[in-house]
Amino acid sequence: MPDYKSQHLLPDGRAVEGRVRWQSPSNIAIVKYWGKHGKQLPRNPSISFTLQNAVTDTTLRYQPKEKAKGISLRFTFEGSPRPAFSQKIEQFLEQNLWAFPFLEQLDIQIDSSNTFPHSAGIASSASSMSALALCLCSLERELFGTLADERAFFQKASYFARLGSGSACRSVYPYAALWGQSPSFPKASDEFAIPIGKTLHPVFQGFHDDILIVSKKEKPVSSRVGHQLMEGNPYASSRYQQAHDHTSALAGALEIGDVEIFGQIAESEALTLHALMMASSPPFILMQPHSLALIDRIRQYRSDTRLPLYFTLDAGPNLHLLYPDECREEIQSFIRTELTAYCEDGFWIQDQVGSGPKQIRD
Ligand code: PMV
Repeated sequence: MPDYKSQHLLPDGRAVEGRVRWQSPSNIAIVKYWGKHGKQLPRNPSISFTLQNAVTDTTLRYQPKEKAKGISLRFTFEGSPRPAFSQKIEQFLEQNLWAFPFLEQLDIQIDSSNTFPHSAGIASSASSMSALALCLCSLERELFGTLADERAFFQKASYFARLGSGSACRSVYPYAALWGQSPSFPKASDEFAIPIGKTLHPVFQGFHDDILIVSKKEKPVSSRVGHQLMEGNPYASSRYQQAHDHTSALAGALEIGDVEIFGQIAESEALTLHALMMASSPPFILMQPHSLALIDRIRQYRSDTRLPLYFTLDAGPNLHLLYPDECREEIQSFIRTELTAYCEDGFWIQDQVGSGPKQIRD
């Protein structure tokens, strides 16, 4: 692993000010990360699709500060101060001063907004922490001319996104990413994700991920608690083995464009995640009656039409519908006429596999 400890400090009296801005997407895991240890290290490898529309837009403005001590941060989310978010970011910056010591020399203002609603069942920590990590790496690059190498830049961004929120490390790459050591991938690491978008078969490049909102309520269990519950879970070791097997099989399916194998793995992973929560102590049921009704309808539709419509779930009741672009019209019409009845206020969101984060230079 590279040494991320940066020695860089601004020379005394050097006036610097400017801003960096990144738009970074959320991602949806097909093989799930569930269970962690140490500093946000995963118990098993995971593979995700990077989304296109669900994006956090973060601008970091900086100017020199009188006294280089501690973090000086002002933060807004969608135009208003948000003390809870602000505290989390300040803590994150403080914990990572060992790697970005120059942050102590700056007054920092961070303004962030999401393109998707808060209650949409989309992992906003993945988009927001990856946007923040990308801004920090850009700031280092602008101030010191380091991280010129693209691979090194995104690897460092992925590393720090992971420290903010595990799954965020996968959001820094276009199309698809793999995180966690796996014997099938010698370059894979627990410390950062690696890009696998280049090997993605074209059928997966425009793959859809439409999110059916069964409930807009906050999740009953945070992912932090969910990860912890894996420590006492009696099925943990066989689950980790299954995730390894699924990672190798899914990577193969993504390369050759095998949508059926992809779908089988996606659904098995989603149901396993929920089964693990049901088998935890204390146990949790995160699906709702409408989640099950939707699963039933989707499987029936697949068997009636032979169209490749599959689902996945995160640790909540909302369904992510996965299907290739060539079936878009038929499937979206099915969603509108048959499935939105199971959604809270008929609410669903359209997204798809996307081209990754973008730096905005304005
Ligand atoms: O990154 P976290 O700690 O919010 O955990 C994410 C867990 C899942 O979304 C359920 C699975 C995953 O790999 O994204």
